[in-house]
Amino acid sequence: MKGIIIAGGKGTRLCPLTNVISKPLLPVYDKPMIYYPLAILMEAGIKEILIITTPEDKHRFMNLLGDGSQLGISIKFKVEPSPKGIAQAFIIGEEFIGNEPVTLILGDNIFYGHGLTSLLRKAISLKKGATIFGYYVKDPYRFGVVEFNDRKEVINLEEKPAQPKTNYAVTGLYVYDHRVVNIAKKIKPSEKGELEITDVNKAYLELGDLHVELLGNGYSWFDTGTHTSLYQAGQFIEETEKNEKIKIGCIEEIAFREKLITKSQLMKLALSLEKSEYGQYLKNLSKKIK
Ligand code: DAU
Repeated sequence: MKGIIIAGGKGTRLCPLTNVISKPLLPVYDKPMIYYPLAILMEAGIKEILIITTPEDKHRFMNLLGDGSQLGISIKFKVEPSPKGIAQAFIIGEEFIGNEPVTLILGDNIFYGHGLTSLLRKAISLKKGATIFGYYVKDPYRFGVVEFNDRKEVINLEEKPAQPKTNYAVTGLYVYDHRVVNIAKKIKPSEKGELEITDVNKAYLELGDLHVELLGNGYSWFDTGTHTSLYQAGQFIEETEKNEKIKIGCIEEIAFREKLITKSQLMKLALSLEKSEYGQYLKNLSKKIK
């Protein structure tokens, strides 16, 4: 299973924050936003990851994450020549994906919930078809929206409908079999001129191969696409980390717990960040865990 984080786009809805820096590099409380989607992929056991960035920001992402070897994974980078939609990721990533299934996560999506890793691992184990994750929201018109029949089967998907049929948003986490590259190549750009991820999901629905998992109570999801949601995500992370005495999206901790790096490698990473509270957390962790 390959993993892609799409971290390009214009970020215009967050200007002036994004005037000189890409959205997924902005802070969400104590770490850059991209740590959170990267952590989700790592927790699901995905070790080969492609990050798609704008041409201007590629070197910044590379400075931040390197080739991933310090985390025991492989991170490659590709540039999006222009933001032509989320589904363009599969065309840009064609060679990287090869003949394997792929999990795509949006660089501005933050998930939290204890069962998420097992849900994602279950979706990955399916091998055939696509799995998307729905989440109940108050403002579904901002998102892709799932429509169900009386038997709770998915019958349609709509991208940012003016009059949503349900309150279930499609979150920015998607698991696909290898057919996704050809499917993405066949879809037509929307009125916005973008290859919509919703059209890829609709193609799987038409094939009878779309699975939808609903993230119920106990899960939190943020699309940090507005100033308010970005702020709320930061507040949520701060409160949860303080209350539960944990760190969310801590990629070094996950690398260690997944046995991708040794205790001495973790300590080395901790020491390089020693002056920050984040570094102190890693230092304590490497002392605490056997
Ligand atoms: O967050 C979930 C929602 O994400 C879904 O419910 C929608 O179906 C899906 O279309 C998407 O909607 P957004 O309006 O949130 O997409 P946005 O344009 O904000 O792009 C999401 C991320 O993908 C963002 O971090 C930038 C990146 N991106 C986006 C486009 C269009 C790219 O890297 N390249 C692009 O061309």
